[in-house]
Amino acid sequence: MKHFLSLKDFSKTEILEIISLAQSIKNDFKNNIPTPLMPQKILAMIFEKNSTRTRVSFESGIYQLGGIGMFLSSNDIQLSRGEPIKDTARVISSMVDMIMIRTFEHSRLEEFASYSSVPVINGLSDSYHPIQLMADYLTMIECGISLEGEKPIATYIGDGNNMAHSWLMLSSKLGFELRVATPKGYEVDSEILSLAQNFAKESGAKIITTHDPKEAIEGCNVVTTDTWISMGQESEKERKIKDFKGFEVNESLMKLAKNNAIFLHCLPAYRGYEVSEEVLEGSQSKVFLEAQNRLHAQKGIMAYLHKERQC
Ligand code: CP
Ligand code: NVA
Repeated sequence: MKHFLSLKDFSKTEILEIISLAQSIKNDFKNNIPTPLMPQKILAMIFEKNSTRTRVSFESGIYQLGGIGMFLSSNDIQLSRGEPIKDTARVISSMVDMIMIRTFEHSRLEEFASYSSVPVINGLSDSYHPIQLMADYLTMIECGISLEGEKPIATYIGDGNNMAHSWLMLSSKLGFELRVATPKGYEVDSEILSLAQNFAKESGAKIITTHDPKEAIEGCNVVTTDTWISMGQESEKERKIKDFKGFEVNESLMKLAKNNAIFLHCLPAYRGYEVSEEVLEGSQSKVFLEAQNRLHAQKGIMAYLHKERQC
């Protein structure tokens, strides 16, 4: 049984298959054609961290696929009172058809999945946010930036966090160039980087890490960033704001990218920190298309996992 915990577990063909399913589901949605691919199926959604996009897109998405979503805040279930993950996983998975979890350590998710009898989707962990990257790639395609023709160059500027790691997985699996610029001391995880470098050998991707955002952004097609303070890091805020000086994606930095480069951000965005108001609200910014694509990308993921399970 296939789970969706990280893109590291998926081949290029599988990633593109999910994207193509998402495109077809989106097309039907735009034409008011129903897509009841998961009739009467139940998706449980466990949140150990806050969410706007992930919750709304999964809940709307499963409903539009003919099923129903069940929102479970960890505060309301026994998990936060110490019930073990392995017990929670066995109980919930015996009553629903698919489970999404947003949690802290990636190992919690892996443990949950290993005890679950139904497919588990990573709704964000401290290490990866793979559902977001599926929406990001769908957005890139819709903006005319894809693997067809000249291969794209994407630049991630900011914290070496779960979003940076997920970009490493997407580029190294699909075979396009990724430049990651982080401040010193905030580099991506070295094990995840070497995993990506190994995938890149096979796919032909080029992975560059640097501490210089100007060098990284030069001539690229996609510019992306993320909050400097991820959920769970609130106590590090003051120190990080000092350490990330010069890493704001602003208009002067954007000018160094290609003229028709797009700007992506998973949101929520913190204006005046990782991105300026002008860039976020500017014509190159595709962040609201990207956010809306979460709905369609995740319907693609759910429909794919459901189909795989029936094979
Ligand atoms: N990008 C994202 O996952 O947003 P939420 O935290 O609002 O779900
Ligand atoms: N890196 C951020 C992403 C939020 C969607 C976090 O983990 O909080």
